[in-house]
Amino acid sequence: MTSSSRAVLVTGGSRGIGRAIARAFAERGDRVAVHWGASRARAEEVLAELPGSGHVLVQADLADADSVGTMVDTAADALGGLDVLVNNAGVFVASPPLTSSYEHWQQVWAQTLAVNLVGAANATFRAVPHLRAAGGGAVVNVSSRGAFRGEPDNPAYGASKAGMNAFAQSMALALAPLGIAVTAVAPGFVQTEMAREVLDGPGGDAVRAQSPFGRVARPEEVAAAVLWLASPEARFSTGTIVDVNGASYLRS
Ligand SMILES: NC(=O)c1ccc[n+]([C@@H]2O[C@H](COP(=O)([O-])OP(=O)(O)OC[C@H]3O[C@@H](n4cnc5c(N)ncnc54)[C@H](OP(=O)(O)O)[C@@H]3O)[C@@H](O)[C@H]2O)c1
Repeated sequence: MTSSSRAVLVTGGSRGIGRAIARAFAERGDRVAVHWGASRARAEEVLAELPGSGHVLVQADLADADSVGTMVDTAADALGGLDVLVNNAGVFVASPPLTSSYEHWQQVWAQTLAVNLVGAANATFRAVPHLRAAGGGAVVNVSSRGAFRGEPDNPAYGASKAGMNAFAQSMALALAPLGIAVTAVAPGFVQTEMAREVLDGPGGDAVRAQSPFGRVARPEEVAAAVLWLASPEARFSTGTIVDVNGASYLRS
């Protein structure tokens, strides 16, 4: 542990982007609470491979408000406080509007908003007292390019991430007086299990060609942006949404 070691909670740290984020913080000397929902064995692997010491595992279903509250308090207790919350856990479930049953449509909307948006909002709410006690800190939300570009087969997902962006902006205003920055990172497709079906499917090459680099992002590239957004140097950039999409979707 270095003298500047921070206490960091990463939701969805059991795999994919969250795993890379947990690793990036641990590599700079921070103590990380690796959250998992269902993938306990995977989370244990992540924990075992993290450099440094003081890391812990925490569990919660992000759709369960009580569990989320307990998870945040448990992480803060185990880490000796909380300086950074990364809202990374999320689901990407298709519900094409022209072919889905109404039943499926409702199920996907309820699950997606509960995990991606309300879960992140609840984790943030419960993190605030701990961040305040630490004298300030950062909340970084893992959003998506889909919030801007649209998600025709996954409209609930696009809406959840647009909601997350608006949530981050509102909270940036609300929490600045406490010295807490709230930001978001908006990746395009990233090489993880979430995107595997799309990237390995017949449309995979077309997705890679959306970027002039001819590829999608690596989880480590998203983690690098999160690490910066969580840093004291980025505090005045509160409210921002950083694109990590290889110029596959440009906005200004
Ligand atoms: N991959 C992409 O192309 C891409 C692009 C843009 C944005 N993103 C965003 O990046 C974030 C991470 O995605 P990823 O690609 O790393 O996905 P992933 O490999 O599918 O991992 C998803 C993570 O979220 C957790 N999670 C899902 N539902 C949960 C629930 N109900 N309760 C608790 N945890 C839950 C999972 O934990 P367990 O397995 O332990 O349940 C897992 O750690 C998501 O917010 C996603 O929307 C991804």
